[in-house]
Amino acid sequence: MKKYLSKVCILVSFLCTSLSLADESIAILGTGYVGLVLGAGLAECGHKVICCDIDESKITRLNKGIMPIFEPGLEEVVQKNFENERLFFSNNINEAIQNSDIIFIAVGTPTGADGCTDITALEKAFDTIVRLSETPKIVCIKSTVPIGTGKSFSRVIASHKKEHILSLASNPEFLREGSAVYDFFNPDRIVIGSNNTTVAERIKNIFQPIITPEVRVITTDITTSETIKYAANAFLANKISFVNEIANLCDETGACMADVELGLGTDPRIGPHFLKPGPGFGGSCFPKDTTALVTLAQTHGVQLKTVKAAIETNEHQKRKALIVAKDMVGTLKDKTVAILGLSFKANTDDIREAASLIIIDELIKAGALVKAYDPMAMEHTKKIFSDIVYCSSALGAIDGADVLIVLTEWPEFKQLNIKEICSLMNDSNIIDMRNIFNKDALATYAKRCYVVGCGTKLRNEPYDQ
Ligand code: UGA
Repeated sequence: MKKYLSKVCILVSFLCTSLSLADESIAILGTGYVGLVLGAGLAECGHKVICCDIDESKITRLNKGIMPIFEPGLEEVVQKNFENERLFFSNNINEAIQNSDIIFIAVGTPTGADGCTDITALEKAFDTIVRLSETPKIVCIKSTVPIGTGKSFSRVIASHKKEHILSLASNPEFLREGSAVYDFFNPDRIVIGSNNTTVAERIKNIFQPIITPEVRVITTDITTSETIKYAANAFLANKISFVNEIANLCDETGACMADVELGLGTDPRIGPHFLKPGPGFGGSCFPKDTTALVTLAQTHGVQLKTVKAAIETNEHQKRKALIVAKDMVGTLKDKTVAILGLSFKANTDDIREAASLIIIDELIKAGALVKAYDPMAMEHTKKIFSDIVYCSSALGAIDGADVLIVLTEWPEFKQLNIKEICSLMNDSNIIDMRNIFNKDALATYAKRCYVVGCGTKLRNEPYDQ
């Protein structure tokens, strides 16, 4: 009886949630970062969601509860909604399309050889939807797509004479890797691009449970929605390249970058976020989207000089640690270099476009012995660099090193004791590209040190005097 009552309670609570929402069945094509977080998030909002992917092994693993990516909190949300039968995983894309009212496309849109965005997978998914749809559906593009994709997809719908059943919408994603689940439930804005107010309203309704009074819902046309996504990423990339240049200036002048950051960030017109200097921006978005935007603008005869400059600065910044290391020890040949942090930022195992890839490659070419440690990203890195030494702890990597380079701001690195680090190293040259170490301790114990935005002059005299 007790068991029965608890089942009823679950059913009632599910019905209550469902009744407060529009009765939409949702399919998501593409179960990568964006698609999986979206699917899990919408299921948690009370919707019935089917996540599809052409990668059969990924779907098989998801059905067994194995996550394809590391993302804090994701496994719990997926598991809960999978067990509650609100979240499903399938390879049967055709069936998912037939049985859904709203279909999100969240497939990858990588950079093609010419710098343009490769939308082959997106076109394929869209083509399948157009061909198979016999009942009214909204196709909502989640993937980051070249500006103008919506317009050309509308023409495809018209050419199949399916305007009466298929409506197009754009709903760009603003999640950050490493905090994607948190970001899903705490958005600052939801952008909906559609040329039809009813369609926009239906998309808005499915997000209703997470729309608090603070959340700005911006409804606009599809081309503008596509532009917002690229403009946001290009602006943030510019902000980072700007602070990296100012940090480089602080290195030379002796100004304190941390105070510059505070002085800038407290101006509400600038804002406190994205002002941290580092080893350059990486990941699957900023590098790809800035390049794509510059290339796309060129096809329209528009020069995005500021975005180009951000990319150029970033290329330089990714090599900054190498320049500093050479200044410190002269030749890197036969030197042992410890790398702490391989992922492009903390809380993710993603190494795409990470500074670590360039640094390790150059170190190998220079004849250095590389010892690396990362709490999450070593498996991915092993596929690219099989010959370097992977260590099971930060101290293991540091042991016997001539140079230590910190590339990722993992919380566990912040706990390391500088005195202990220096005593373990063969020659204590420390390069902190994330400004995570205690500067007084570095100045006291390290033979030579560099902290991004603070330069090498942490002591009263430069290290080489
Ligand atoms: C970025 C955007 O922040 C998201 O809003 C967007 O949805 C996403 O791209 C996307 O287009 O899908 P993400 O690439 O996951 O998210 O990571 P970010 O947290 O933005 O960091 C990007 C890079 O900038 C990292 O290498 C990070 O270390 C670097 N960064 C960030 C800095 O060097 N300094 C900062 O102050 C902030």
